[in-house]
Amino acid sequence: MSATADPRHVAIIMDGNGRWAKARGLPRVMGHREGVKALKRTVEAAPRFGIECLTVFGFSTENWSRPAAEVSELMGLVRNYLSSDLDRMEREGVRLRVLGRREGLPEDVKAIITRAEARTAHNRQFLLQVAFNYGGRADIVAAARRYAEKLASGDVTAQLDEAEFAQGLSSAGAPDVDLIIRTSGEQRLSNFLLWEAAYAEFVFQDTLWPDYGEAALGEAVDTFRRRERRFGGVEARDVMAAG
Ligand code: FPP
Repeated sequence: MSATADPRHVAIIMDGNGRWAKARGLPRVMGHREGVKALKRTVEAAPRFGIECLTVFGFSTENWSRPAAEVSELMGLVRNYLSSDLDRMEREGVRLRVLGRREGLPEDVKAIITRAEARTAHNRQFLLQVAFNYGGRADIVAAARRYAEKLASGDVTAQLDEAEFAQGLSSAGAPDVDLIIRTSGEQRLSNFLLWEAAYAEFVFQDTLWPDYGEAALGEAVDTFRRRERRFGGVEARDVMAAG
């Protein structure tokens, strides 16, 4: 219930790449390329704010409807990021996890994801989760299917509780999400971490994602620290007054 604790788990909807590019008369893909640089800056800065886990929305199940060239560019960027940044992740103790559906992704992207996850699996300093081909509803449905399969195989009891159900989500095992940030001034959740966002604080920032980095993250964390989180309870001073 503290208002001052650091957010352990921060999730970011990295929005505004297209608008950043458009404002400069550049093709949209240039915004995504700059977006990768912003992602690297943000991952590097996060531990300085006490953050232990960062989840970013890299590609949604709805993003397939974008022009083929843009989809192909985003696949290329994730390929590159998960290959070229592995050494750095190793050095900095970053464990990488990719959330979302593997089906539908190009075979080589699937292989790169599997390799990156395996190579960083032992790291414990920081958890980086990239939601890629991810949709919150689809992830909840997948968890329901996994539970049904376990039940059918006699692996679990009929007594379903939240903790058991959450084991089937692709984020299973990550700490609860404390803070969700969306950049570019938009104020929507867009099917991101629907289950995990249950008690998260939301901070919306006008910064376009390619301009993001330590300063903007610091502002979001400061805003979070000023919030009083009640998790459905009452403020501490009201408990005293009632007593
Ligand atoms: C939203 O901007 C951003 C995305 C759909 C993709 C985010 C991707 C990156 C930051 C780079 C690649 C990711 C990884 C994980 C390597 P938008 O295109 O919707 O912007 P707009 O609303 O201004 O058009």
